Amino acid sequence: MHKLLPVALGLLILFCFSGCSEKSNPLPSKSHPDEWNVASSASFHGKKVLASGNASCTGCHGYELDGSGSAPACQSCHSLYPHDTQWMVLADQEFHGAYIARDHWSMKSCKKCHGDDYAGGSSKVSCNTCHTGEGGPESCATCHGSLKNPAPPEDLSGNVATSSMGVGAHQLHMDGYGSCNICHVVPASMSDAGHIDGVEHAEVLAKRSWNRTTGTCVTGCHTSTAKSYIWNSF
Ligand code: HEC
Ligand code: HEC
Ligand code: HEC
Ligand code: HEC
Ligand code: HEC
Ligand code: HEC
Repeated sequence: MHKLLPVALGLLILFCFSGCSEKSNPLPSKSHPDEWNVASSASFHGKKVLASGNASCTGCHGYELDGSGSAPACQSCHSLYPHDTQWMVLADQEFHGAYIARDHWSMKSCKKCHGDDYAGGSSKVSCNTCHTGEGGPESCATCHGSLKNPAPPEDLSGNVATSSMGVGAHQLHMDGYGSCNICHVVPASMSDAGHIDGVEHAEVLAKRSWNRTTGTCVTGCHTSTAKSYIWNSF
Protein backbone atom coordinates (compact mmCIF):
# COMPACT_ATOMS: atom_id res chain seq x y z
CA MET A 1 0.00 0.00 0.00
CA HIS A 2 2.59 2.53 1.16
CA LYS A 3 4.42 1.96 -2.16
CA LEU A 4 1.56 3.65 -4.04
CA LEU A 5 1.53 6.72 -1.84
CA PRO A 6 4.19 8.68 -3.80
CA VAL A 7 2.36 7.89 -7.05
CA ALA A 8 -0.95 9.10 -5.63
CA LEU A 9 0.73 12.24 -4.31
CA GLY A 10 2.35 12.82 -7.67
CA LEU A 11 -0.97 12.49 -9.45
CA LEU A 12 -2.60 14.87 -6.98
CA ILE A 13 0.10 17.48 -7.56
CA LEU A 14 -0.18 17.09 -11.35
CA PHE A 15 -3.97 17.42 -11.21
CA CYS A 16 -3.74 20.50 -9.03
CA PHE A 17 -1.10 22.04 -11.27
CA SER A 18 -3.13 21.69 -14.44
CA GLY A 19 -6.26 22.88 -12.66
CA CYS A 20 -4.47 25.93 -11.28
CA SER A 21 -2.83 26.82 -14.57
CA GLU A 22 -6.21 26.74 -16.30
CA LYS A 23 -7.58 29.11 -13.73
CA SER A 24 -4.78 31.66 -14.05
CA ASN A 25 -5.03 31.76 -17.90
CA PRO A 26 -7.92 33.37 -19.82
CA LEU A 27 -10.41 30.69 -20.79
CA PRO A 28 -10.07 29.54 -24.38
CA SER A 29 -13.25 29.52 -26.49
CA LYS A 30 -15.54 26.76 -25.26
CA SER A 31 -17.79 27.07 -28.28
CA HIS A 32 -15.34 26.87 -31.14
CA PRO A 33 -12.13 25.17 -32.22
CA ASP A 34 -8.80 26.96 -32.14
CA GLU A 35 -8.08 28.91 -35.31
CA TRP A 36 -11.84 29.42 -35.82
CA ASN A 37 -10.93 33.01 -36.62
CA VAL A 38 -7.77 32.41 -38.64
CA ALA A 39 -8.62 32.91 -42.29
CA SER A 40 -5.76 30.71 -43.53
CA SER A 41 -6.69 27.77 -41.32
CA ALA A 42 -8.68 24.72 -42.39
CA SER A 43 -10.95 25.22 -39.38
CA PHE A 44 -11.72 28.87 -40.28
CA HIS A 45 -15.43 29.61 -39.67
CA GLY A 46 -15.86 31.37 -43.04
CA LYS A 47 -14.91 28.22 -44.92
CA LYS A 48 -17.33 26.17 -42.90
CA VAL A 49 -20.20 28.60 -43.51
CA LEU A 50 -19.56 28.88 -47.24
CA ALA A 51 -19.40 25.09 -47.49
CA SER A 52 -22.46 24.20 -45.44
CA GLY A 53 -24.47 27.36 -44.75
CA ASN A 54 -25.16 29.20 -41.52
CA ALA A 55 -28.17 27.30 -40.18
CA SER A 56 -26.07 25.63 -37.48
CA CYS A 57 -24.96 29.03 -36.16
CA THR A 58 -28.41 30.47 -35.49
CA GLY A 59 -29.01 28.37 -32.37
CA CYS A 60 -26.42 30.38 -30.40
CA HIS A 61 -25.81 33.53 -32.49
CA GLY A 62 -29.51 34.38 -32.79
CA TYR A 63 -32.18 33.62 -35.35
CA GLU A 64 -31.10 36.64 -37.47
CA LEU A 65 -27.41 36.03 -36.57
CA ASP A 66 -27.50 39.40 -34.83
CA GLY A 67 -26.07 38.10 -31.58
CA SER A 68 -27.50 36.31 -28.55
CA GLY A 69 -26.12 35.99 -25.04
CA SER A 70 -22.33 35.97 -25.23
CA ALA A 71 -22.31 34.92 -28.89
CA PRO A 72 -21.62 38.07 -30.94
CA ALA A 73 -23.49 39.32 -34.01
CA CYS A 74 -21.74 38.16 -37.18
CA GLN A 75 -22.09 41.69 -38.52
CA SER A 76 -20.05 43.04 -35.63
CA CYS A 77 -17.00 41.91 -37.61
CA HIS A 78 -18.14 42.04 -41.24
CA SER A 79 -20.98 44.35 -42.21
CA LEU A 80 -21.81 42.53 -45.46
CA TYR A 81 -22.37 39.06 -44.07
CA PRO A 82 -24.89 37.76 -43.40
CA HIS A 83 -26.85 40.00 -45.74
CA ASP A 84 -29.43 42.31 -44.24
CA THR A 85 -32.91 40.81 -44.01
CA GLN A 86 -34.12 43.57 -46.40
CA TRP A 87 -31.38 42.76 -48.95
CA MET A 88 -33.97 41.65 -51.51
CA VAL A 89 -36.67 44.20 -50.66
CA LEU A 90 -36.67 46.64 -53.56
CA ALA A 91 -38.07 49.70 -51.79
CA ASP A 92 -35.91 49.33 -48.66
CA GLN A 93 -32.76 51.34 -48.06
CA GLU A 94 -30.95 48.08 -47.26
CA PHE A 95 -31.87 46.67 -50.68
CA HIS A 96 -28.65 45.40 -52.25
CA GLY A 97 -28.89 47.87 -55.16
CA ALA A 98 -29.28 50.77 -52.73
CA TYR A 99 -26.30 49.52 -50.72
CA ILE A 100 -24.17 49.46 -53.89
CA ALA A 101 -25.31 52.96 -54.89
CA ARG A 102 -24.23 54.26 -51.47
CA ASP A 103 -20.87 52.54 -51.91
CA HIS A 104 -20.26 54.79 -54.97
CA TRP A 105 -21.71 52.11 -57.22
CA SER A 106 -18.84 49.77 -56.45
CA MET A 107 -19.43 46.02 -56.71
CA LYS A 108 -15.88 45.11 -55.78
CA SER A 109 -16.90 43.92 -52.33
CA CYS A 110 -19.41 41.49 -53.84
CA LYS A 111 -16.85 39.80 -56.08
CA LYS A 112 -14.99 38.42 -53.08
CA CYS A 113 -17.76 35.90 -52.41
CA HIS A 114 -19.82 35.97 -55.62
CA GLY A 115 -16.86 35.62 -57.97
CA ASP A 116 -15.01 37.97 -60.34
CA ASP A 117 -17.50 36.99 -63.06
CA TYR A 118 -20.46 37.26 -60.61
CA ALA A 119 -21.32 33.64 -61.45
CA GLY A 120 -21.36 32.50 -57.84
CA GLY A 121 -17.81 32.16 -56.54
CA SER A 122 -17.56 30.69 -53.05
CA SER A 123 -21.10 31.82 -52.17
CA LYS A 124 -22.49 29.68 -55.01
CA VAL A 125 -25.20 32.32 -55.58
CA SER A 126 -24.91 33.84 -59.04
CA CYS A 127 -25.85 37.47 -59.70
CA ASN A 128 -26.33 36.60 -63.34
CA THR A 129 -29.47 34.53 -62.92
CA CYS A 130 -31.33 37.77 -62.16
CA HIS A 131 -29.03 40.22 -63.96
CA THR A 132 -29.23 38.51 -67.31
CA GLY A 133 -27.76 41.28 -69.49
CA GLU A 134 -24.26 41.05 -70.97
CA GLY A 135 -21.76 41.38 -68.11
CA GLY A 136 -24.37 40.49 -65.48
CA PRO A 137 -24.74 43.36 -63.01
CA GLU A 138 -22.20 45.41 -65.02
CA SER A 139 -24.60 45.53 -67.96
CA CYS A 140 -25.48 49.13 -68.86
CA ALA A 141 -29.16 48.94 -67.99
CA THR A 142 -28.58 47.67 -64.43
CA CYS A 143 -28.07 51.17 -63.05
CA HIS A 144 -29.79 53.46 -65.57
CA GLY A 145 -32.18 53.10 -68.46
CA SER A 146 -34.09 50.03 -69.54
CA LEU A 147 -33.69 47.08 -71.87
CA LYS A 148 -34.70 49.41 -74.75
CA ASN A 149 -31.59 51.56 -74.21
CA PRO A 150 -29.45 52.61 -71.23
CA ALA A 151 -30.70 56.20 -71.26
CA PRO A 152 -33.06 57.14 -68.41
CA PRO A 153 -35.74 56.38 -67.40
CA GLU A 154 -34.96 55.00 -64.95
CA ASP A 155 -32.45 57.53 -63.80
CA LEU A 156 -29.89 56.77 -61.09
CA SER A 157 -32.34 57.53 -58.30
CA GLY A 158 -35.08 55.36 -59.75
CA ASN A 159 -37.09 58.31 -61.16
CA VAL A 160 -39.16 57.72 -64.27
CA ALA A 161 -40.96 61.08 -64.68
CA THR A 162 -39.63 63.38 -67.42
CA SER A 163 -39.80 66.27 -64.93
CA SER A 164 -36.81 64.75 -63.10
CA MET A 165 -33.51 66.22 -64.23
CA GLY A 166 -32.01 62.73 -64.55
CA VAL A 167 -34.78 61.62 -66.91
CA GLY A 168 -35.77 64.77 -68.84
CA ALA A 169 -35.98 64.51 -72.61
CA HIS A 170 -33.70 61.47 -72.93
CA GLN A 171 -36.11 59.23 -74.80
CA LEU A 172 -37.26 62.09 -77.06
CA HIS A 173 -33.64 62.49 -78.16
CA MET A 174 -33.03 58.78 -78.41
CA ASP A 175 -36.00 58.52 -80.78
CA GLY A 176 -34.70 61.42 -82.83
CA TYR A 177 -30.95 60.74 -82.85
CA GLY A 178 -30.50 57.28 -81.40
CA SER A 179 -27.17 57.86 -79.75
CA CYS A 180 -25.79 58.99 -76.41
CA ASN A 181 -22.62 60.40 -77.89
CA ILE A 182 -24.23 63.58 -79.18
CA CYS A 183 -24.36 64.63 -75.50
CA HIS A 184 -22.03 62.35 -73.48
CA VAL A 185 -18.72 60.55 -73.67
CA VAL A 186 -19.99 56.97 -73.84
CA PRO A 187 -18.11 54.33 -71.85
CA ALA A 188 -17.43 50.99 -73.54
CA SER A 189 -17.62 49.26 -70.18
CA MET A 190 -18.77 50.13 -66.68
CA SER A 191 -15.23 50.50 -65.36
CA ASP A 192 -14.01 52.97 -68.02
CA ALA A 193 -12.22 56.00 -66.58
CA GLY A 194 -14.45 59.09 -66.49
CA HIS A 195 -17.67 57.08 -66.25
CA ILE A 196 -18.40 56.51 -62.55
CA ASP A 197 -16.07 59.17 -61.29
CA GLY A 198 -17.64 60.58 -58.17
CA VAL A 199 -18.89 63.67 -60.01
CA GLU A 200 -22.28 64.49 -58.58
CA HIS A 201 -24.18 64.53 -61.89
CA ALA A 202 -23.68 63.03 -65.31
CA GLU A 203 -21.30 64.97 -67.49
CA VAL A 204 -22.67 66.56 -70.65
CA LEU A 205 -20.29 67.40 -73.52
CA ALA A 206 -18.98 70.96 -73.23
CA LYS A 207 -20.07 71.79 -76.78
CA ARG A 208 -23.71 71.49 -75.68
CA SER A 209 -23.31 74.37 -73.19
CA TRP A 210 -25.56 72.54 -70.78
CA ASN A 211 -26.94 74.83 -68.09
CA ARG A 212 -28.28 72.78 -65.23
CA THR A 213 -29.96 75.75 -63.51
CA THR A 214 -32.17 76.57 -66.45
CA GLY A 215 -32.25 73.05 -67.85
CA THR A 216 -31.26 74.26 -71.30
CA CYS A 217 -28.63 73.79 -74.00
CA VAL A 218 -28.00 77.03 -75.81
CA THR A 219 -25.52 76.09 -78.53
CA GLY A 220 -25.69 73.72 -81.45
CA CYS A 221 -29.16 72.35 -81.84
CA HIS A 222 -31.03 74.82 -79.66
CA THR A 223 -29.81 78.33 -80.37
CA SER A 224 -30.62 81.06 -77.91
CA THR A 225 -32.78 82.87 -80.45
CA ALA A 226 -35.07 79.89 -80.92
CA LYS A 227 -37.93 78.96 -78.65
CA SER A 228 -36.40 77.87 -75.36
CA TYR A 229 -36.36 74.12 -74.90
CA ILE A 230 -36.31 73.04 -71.29
CA TRP A 231 -34.87 69.54 -70.72
CA ASN A 232 -37.27 68.52 -67.98
CA SER A 233 -40.34 70.58 -68.90
CA PHE A 234 -41.77 70.05 -72.35
C1 HEC B 1 -23.07 26.22 -29.02
C2 HEC B 1 -23.30 27.62 -29.33
C3 HEC B 1 -22.64 28.18 -30.59
C4 HEC B 1 -22.79 27.75 -31.89
C5 HEC B 1 -23.63 26.58 -32.40
C6 HEC B 1 -22.01 28.65 -32.72
N1 HEC B 1 -21.40 29.59 -31.92
FE1 HEC B 1 -20.04 30.99 -32.54
N2 HEC B 1 -19.78 31.61 -30.61
C7 HEC B 1 -20.51 31.16 -29.53
C8 HEC B 1 -20.12 31.91 -28.34
C9 HEC B 1 -20.72 31.74 -26.94
C10 HEC B 1 -19.12 32.83 -28.76
C11 HEC B 1 -18.40 33.88 -27.92
C12 HEC B 1 -17.36 33.37 -26.98
C13 HEC B 1 -16.59 32.16 -27.39
O1 HEC B 1 -15.79 32.25 -28.34
O2 HEC B 1 -16.86 31.12 -26.78
C14 HEC B 1 -18.93 32.60 -30.19
C15 HEC B 1 -18.01 33.28 -30.96
C16 HEC B 1 -17.89 33.16 -32.35
C17 HEC B 1 -16.95 33.88 -33.17
C18 HEC B 1 -15.91 34.86 -32.66
C19 HEC B 1 -14.69 34.13 -32.25
C20 HEC B 1 -13.60 35.06 -31.76
O3 HEC B 1 -12.44 34.66 -31.86
O4 HEC B 1 -13.89 36.16 -31.30
C21 HEC B 1 -17.15 33.51 -34.45
C22 HEC B 1 -16.38 33.95 -35.66
C23 HEC B 1 -18.24 32.55 -34.45
N3 HEC B 1 -18.66 32.37 -33.15
C24 HEC B 1 -18.78 31.98 -35.57
C25 HEC B 1 -19.73 30.97 -35.56
C26 HEC B 1 -20.23 30.31 -36.74
C27 HEC B 1 -19.83 30.68 -38.15
C28 HEC B 1 -21.11 29.35 -36.34
C29 HEC B 1 -21.87 28.37 -37.21
C30 HEC B 1 -21.12 27.61 -38.17
C31 HEC B 1 -21.16 29.39 -34.89
N4 HEC B 1 -20.32 30.39 -34.47
C32 HEC B 1 -21.92 28.54 -34.09
C33 HEC B 1 -21.42 30.13 -29.53
C34 HEC B 1 -21.77 29.35 -30.62
C1 HEC C 1 -14.68 38.21 -34.19
C2 HEC C 1 -14.99 38.61 -35.54
C3 HEC C 1 -15.91 37.73 -36.37
C4 HEC C 1 -17.18 37.30 -36.05
C5 HEC C 1 -17.94 37.54 -34.76
C6 HEC C 1 -17.67 36.60 -37.22
N1 HEC C 1 -16.73 36.61 -38.20
FE1 HEC C 1 -16.93 35.78 -40.07
N2 HEC C 1 -15.12 36.55 -40.60
C7 HEC C 1 -14.23 37.20 -39.75
C8 HEC C 1 -13.01 37.50 -40.47
C9 HEC C 1 -11.80 38.22 -39.87
C10 HEC C 1 -13.20 37.01 -41.78
C11 HEC C 1 -12.21 37.02 -42.94
C12 HEC C 1 -11.73 38.35 -43.30
C13 HEC C 1 -12.61 39.14 -44.20
O1 HEC C 1 -13.74 39.50 -43.87
O2 HEC C 1 -12.13 39.42 -45.27
C14 HEC C 1 -14.54 36.43 -41.83
C15 HEC C 1 -15.10 35.88 -42.95
C16 HEC C 1 -16.33 35.23 -42.99
C17 HEC C 1 -16.92 34.67 -44.18
C18 HEC C 1 -16.35 34.73 -45.58
C19 HEC C 1 -15.35 33.70 -45.89
C20 HEC C 1 -14.52 34.09 -47.07
O3 HEC C 1 -13.95 33.20 -47.67
O4 HEC C 1 -14.42 35.28 -47.39
C21 HEC C 1 -18.11 34.11 -43.83
C22 HEC C 1 -19.09 33.39 -44.75
C23 HEC C 1 -18.28 34.36 -42.41
N3 HEC C 1 -17.18 35.05 -41.94
C24 HEC C 1 -19.37 33.97 -41.67
C25 HEC C 1 -19.64 34.35 -40.37
C26 HEC C 1 -20.84 34.04 -39.62
C27 HEC C 1 -22.02 33.27 -40.16
C28 HEC C 1 -20.68 34.61 -38.38
C29 HEC C 1 -21.65 34.60 -37.22
C30 HEC C 1 -22.21 33.33 -36.81
C31 HEC C 1 -19.39 35.25 -38.34
N4 HEC C 1 -18.79 35.07 -39.56
C32 HEC C 1 -18.89 35.97 -37.25
C33 HEC C 1 -14.47 37.55 -38.45
C34 HEC C 1 -15.63 37.30 -37.73
C1 HEC D 1 -32.63 37.04 -56.91
C2 HEC D 1 -32.40 38.07 -57.91
C3 HEC D 1 -31.16 38.94 -57.79
C4 HEC D 1 -29.86 38.55 -57.52
C5 HEC D 1 -29.33 37.15 -57.25
C6 HEC D 1 -29.05 39.75 -57.60
N1 HEC D 1 -29.84 40.83 -57.89
FE1 HEC D 1 -29.20 42.77 -58.09
N2 HEC D 1 -31.14 43.37 -58.40
C7 HEC D 1 -32.25 42.54 -58.45
C8 HEC D 1 -33.44 43.35 -58.67
C9 HEC D 1 -34.86 42.83 -58.77
C10 HEC D 1 -33.01 44.69 -58.79
C11 HEC D 1 -33.85 45.93 -59.04
C12 HEC D 1 -34.01 46.17 -60.51
C13 HEC D 1 -34.75 47.44 -60.79
O1 HEC D 1 -34.58 48.42 -60.07
O2 HEC D 1 -35.47 47.45 -61.79
C14 HEC D 1 -31.55 44.66 -58.61
C15 HEC D 1 -30.75 45.79 -58.67
C16 HEC D 1 -29.37 45.78 -58.64
C17 HEC D 1 -28.52 46.93 -58.90
C18 HEC D 1 -29.00 48.29 -59.39
C19 HEC D 1 -29.33 49.30 -58.38
C20 HEC D 1 -30.01 50.53 -58.94
O3 HEC D 1 -30.46 51.28 -58.12
O4 HEC D 1 -30.12 50.76 -60.16
C21 HEC D 1 -27.22 46.51 -58.79
C22 HEC D 1 -25.98 47.38 -59.00
C23 HEC D 1 -27.26 45.09 -58.47
N3 HEC D 1 -28.57 44.69 -58.38
C24 HEC D 1 -26.14 44.31 -58.27
C25 HEC D 1 -26.17 42.94 -57.96
C26 HEC D 1 -24.99 42.15 -57.70
C27 HEC D 1 -23.56 42.65 -57.71
C28 HEC D 1 -25.44 40.87 -57.43
C29 HEC D 1 -24.64 39.68 -57.04
C30 HEC D 1 -23.57 39.85 -56.04
C31 HEC D 1 -26.88 40.88 -57.55
N4 HEC D 1 -27.29 42.16 -57.86
C32 HEC D 1 -27.69 39.77 -57.39
C33 HEC D 1 -32.25 41.18 -58.29
C34 HEC D 1 -31.14 40.38 -58.01
C1 HEC E 1 -18.66 37.24 -47.18
C2 HEC E 1 -19.24 36.72 -48.38
C3 HEC E 1 -20.23 37.56 -49.17
C4 HEC E 1 -20.08 38.87 -49.62
C5 HEC E 1 -18.91 39.82 -49.40
C6 HEC E 1 -21.28 39.16 -50.39
N1 HEC E 1 -22.11 38.08 -50.39
FE1 HEC E 1 -23.96 37.97 -51.24
N2 HEC E 1 -24.22 36.09 -50.48
C7 HEC E 1 -23.26 35.37 -49.81
C8 HEC E 1 -23.78 34.04 -49.48
C9 HEC E 1 -23.03 32.94 -48.74
C10 HEC E 1 -25.10 34.00 -50.00
C11 HEC E 1 -26.06 32.81 -49.92
C12 HEC E 1 -27.15 33.02 -48.92
C13 HEC E 1 -26.67 33.25 -47.51
O1 HEC E 1 -25.98 32.39 -46.96
O2 HEC E 1 -26.96 34.31 -46.96
C14 HEC E 1 -25.34 35.30 -50.62
C15 HEC E 1 -26.53 35.67 -51.22
C16 HEC E 1 -26.73 36.85 -51.95
C17 HEC E 1 -27.93 37.20 -52.68
C18 HEC E 1 -29.19 36.35 -52.78
C19 HEC E 1 -30.06 36.63 -51.60
C20 HEC E 1 -31.40 35.95 -51.68
O3 HEC E 1 -32.07 35.99 -50.64
O4 HEC E 1 -31.76 35.40 -52.72
C21 HEC E 1 -27.73 38.44 -53.24
C22 HEC E 1 -28.69 39.23 -54.08
C23 HEC E 1 -26.40 38.84 -52.86
N3 HEC E 1 -25.82 37.88 -52.07
C24 HEC E 1 -25.84 40.04 -53.25
C25 HEC E 1 -24.60 40.51 -52.80
C26 HEC E 1 -24.07 41.82 -53.14
C27 HEC E 1 -24.76 42.83 -54.01
C28 HEC E 1 -22.86 41.93 -52.52
C29 HEC E 1 -21.90 43.11 -52.53
C30 HEC E 1 -22.45 44.39 -52.13
C31 HEC E 1 -22.63 40.68 -51.80
N4 HEC E 1 -23.70 39.86 -52.00
C32 HEC E 1 -21.50 40.39 -51.02
C33 HEC E 1 -22.00 35.80 -49.45
C34 HEC E 1 -21.50 37.07 -49.67
C1 HEC F 1 -22.96 50.12 -61.53
C2 HEC F 1 -23.80 51.09 -62.15
C3 HEC F 1 -23.58 51.49 -63.58
C4 HEC F 1 -23.44 50.66 -64.66
C5 HEC F 1 -23.45 49.15 -64.69
C6 HEC F 1 -23.30 51.54 -65.82
N1 HEC F 1 -23.37 52.84 -65.43
FE1 HEC F 1 -23.34 54.49 -66.67
N2 HEC F 1 -23.44 55.72 -65.04
C7 HEC F 1 -23.48 55.33 -63.73
C8 HEC F 1 -23.39 56.50 -62.87
C9 HEC F 1 -23.37 56.45 -61.33
C10 HEC F 1 -23.32 57.63 -63.72
C11 HEC F 1 -23.28 59.14 -63.38
C12 HEC F 1 -22.33 59.61 -62.37
C13 HEC F 1 -20.91 59.88 -62.76
O1 HEC F 1 -20.65 60.49 -63.83
O2 HEC F 1 -20.03 59.52 -61.95
C14 HEC F 1 -23.36 57.11 -65.08
C15 HEC F 1 -23.34 57.91 -66.21
C16 HEC F 1 -23.38 57.45 -67.52
C17 HEC F 1 -23.43 58.31 -68.70
C18 HEC F 1 -23.44 59.82 -68.71
C19 HEC F 1 -22.05 60.38 -68.92
C20 HEC F 1 -21.17 60.36 -67.68
O3 HEC F 1 -20.13 59.66 -67.72
O4 HEC F 1 -21.50 61.00 -66.68
C21 HEC F 1 -23.44 57.47 -69.79
C22 HEC F 1 -23.46 57.89 -71.25
C23 HEC F 1 -23.40 56.10 -69.29
N3 HEC F 1 -23.38 56.12 -67.90
C24 HEC F 1 -23.39 54.97 -70.09
C25 HEC F 1 -23.22 53.66 -69.62
C26 HEC F 1 -22.99 52.52 -70.46
C27 HEC F 1 -22.91 52.57 -71.98
C28 HEC F 1 -22.87 51.42 -69.64
C29 HEC F 1 -22.56 49.98 -70.02
C30 HEC F 1 -21.32 49.79 -70.75
C31 HEC F 1 -23.05 51.90 -68.27
N4 HEC F 1 -23.24 53.26 -68.28
C32 HEC F 1 -23.07 51.08 -67.11
C33 HEC F 1 -23.62 54.01 -63.28
C34 HEC F 1 -23.53 52.86 -64.06
C1 HEC G 1 -29.73 65.28 -75.94
C2 HEC G 1 -28.66 65.07 -75.05
C3 HEC G 1 -28.56 63.72 -74.34
C4 HEC G 1 -28.54 62.46 -74.90
C5 HEC G 1 -28.70 62.05 -76.36
C6 HEC G 1 -28.33 61.54 -73.79
N1 HEC G 1 -28.23 62.23 -72.61
FE1 HEC G 1 -27.91 61.47 -70.79
N2 HEC G 1 -28.14 63.31 -69.94
C7 HEC G 1 -28.35 64.48 -70.65
C8 HEC G 1 -28.59 65.56 -69.72
C9 HEC G 1 -28.84 67.00 -70.08
C10 HEC G 1 -28.52 64.98 -68.42
C11 HEC G 1 -28.69 65.70 -67.08
C12 HEC G 1 -27.35 66.17 -66.60
C13 HEC G 1 -27.41 66.81 -65.23
O1 HEC G 1 -28.05 66.27 -64.32
O2 HEC G 1 -26.76 67.85 -65.05
C14 HEC G 1 -28.22 63.58 -68.61
C15 HEC G 1 -28.07 62.69 -67.57
C16 HEC G 1 -27.76 61.34 -67.75
C17 HEC G 1 -27.53 60.39 -66.67
C18 HEC G 1 -27.61 60.68 -65.17
C19 HEC G 1 -29.02 60.47 -64.67
C20 HEC G 1 -29.19 60.84 -63.22
O3 HEC G 1 -29.87 60.11 -62.48
O4 HEC G 1 -28.67 61.90 -62.78
C21 HEC G 1 -27.23 59.18 -67.23
C22 HEC G 1 -26.93 57.89 -66.50
C23 HEC G 1 -27.29 59.38 -68.67
N3 HEC G 1 -27.60 60.69 -68.93
C24 HEC G 1 -27.04 58.38 -69.57
C25 HEC G 1 -27.29 58.49 -70.94
C26 HEC G 1 -27.19 57.39 -71.86
C27 HEC G 1 -26.75 55.99 -71.48
C28 HEC G 1 -27.55 57.87 -73.09
C29 HEC G 1 -27.69 57.10 -74.39
C30 HEC G 1 -28.34 55.78 -74.36
C31 HEC G 1 -27.85 59.29 -72.91
N4 HEC G 1 -27.69 59.62 -71.60
C32 HEC G 1 -28.23 60.16 -73.92
C33 HEC G 1 -28.36 64.60 -72.00
C34 HEC G 1 -28.38 63.56 -72.91
